Amino acid sequence: MTKTIRRFFALMTAVLISASVLTACAGEETEDGEKKLITVGFSQVGSESSWRVANSESMKSALSEDKGFELIFDDAKQKQENQYKSIRIFIQQQVDYIVLAPITESGWDDVLKEAKDAGIPVIIVDRQVDSDPELYACWLGSDFTSEGEKAARWLEGEIAEREKESGVKHDKVNIFHLMGTKGATAQLKRTEGIEEAVKRNPNWEITASLEGDYTEAQAYEITMDYLKKNSFVSAVTDENGNVTETVVYPRIDVVYCENDNMTFGVMRAFDEAGIGYGGKDGVIMISFDAVSSALEACLEGRINLCVECNPLHGPRIVSIIDLMRHGVMPEKMNYVDEMCFSYRTVTEDMISSRAY
Ligand code: AHR
Repeated sequence: MTKTIRRFFALMTAVLISASVLTACAGEETEDGEKKLITVGFSQVGSESSWRVANSESMKSALSEDKGFELIFDDAKQKQENQYKSIRIFIQQQVDYIVLAPITESGWDDVLKEAKDAGIPVIIVDRQVDSDPELYACWLGSDFTSEGEKAARWLEGEIAEREKESGVKHDKVNIFHLMGTKGATAQLKRTEGIEEAVKRNPNWEITASLEGDYTEAQAYEITMDYLKKNSFVSAVTDENGNVTETVVYPRIDVVYCENDNMTFGVMRAFDEAGIGYGGKDGVIMISFDAVSSALEACLEGRINLCVECNPLHGPRIVSIIDLMRHGVMPEKMNYVDEMCFSYRTVTEDMISSRAY
């Protein structure tokens, strides 16, 4: 457990015990004995990935009526303007709390100020915002910098291991990089991870850096497009005059893909093109999120590394709201602990216990 999270949960437990609120229901009783639900407006990014779907489900089941909440859920369909609209509606509705999963880091000052002026605390979840921290109560999510660093360090180790196993040094390492939504913390920090590693390794090169917007469909299309535009047909004539044509694709040694769904899109494109990937000999596939279908692919050796990004924030948001209801300001930044799964070490048990 990181220091911040340890502190956060220790404090939370103390407050909850002393206030005797260790009940399943967070709602408060009104004077006439009725239960008053806590209203929470949640502006969600969209439903672009399996991670996001699991995150929405986690929020809906943790902030349910039987647990004392009225959740007003808004899917922004990956458009920041929609998030502005929903936050302004939450303010008009005078919700008790606003939870914002921001699409990108920038552009939040005005709406956050409006919420603050209205006296509604805002909890930022998942990606971060670059606004003045005074404008929101706290942030909760993944350590995206650490995710990028772990992926890059693992790749250095994997290349060294392959060189040892084969006795052949890599002259060059060509990296095909698929980015998530530009300007999202998950994109900025994961991209930073691989870019820093390229600076450390002179024979590494990012030969393509394309935007897949975290969706499988877009990743598939841009990968196909890249392969078509950068391939050529090689024709070989044998002694009988028979011509054999082969499509030669650009050399790719590593795919660094900033979420699982985009990795699935790349895998589909590679399958169609006949490009071998995964295992100890194919293109090294690095993916982020570690949803169970990606871990299955990792177990089969089709993905080499899954870097975990945990979407189960619903109960964590409930804990933060519980703290705030009892007058305790949570830590400003609350990081969730996460791990990596390599094709060399992943096991069936790790996948069967997966909740998403
Ligand atoms: O911000 C978290 C990222 O957003 C996840 O990696 C991705 O799958 C999602 O869409």
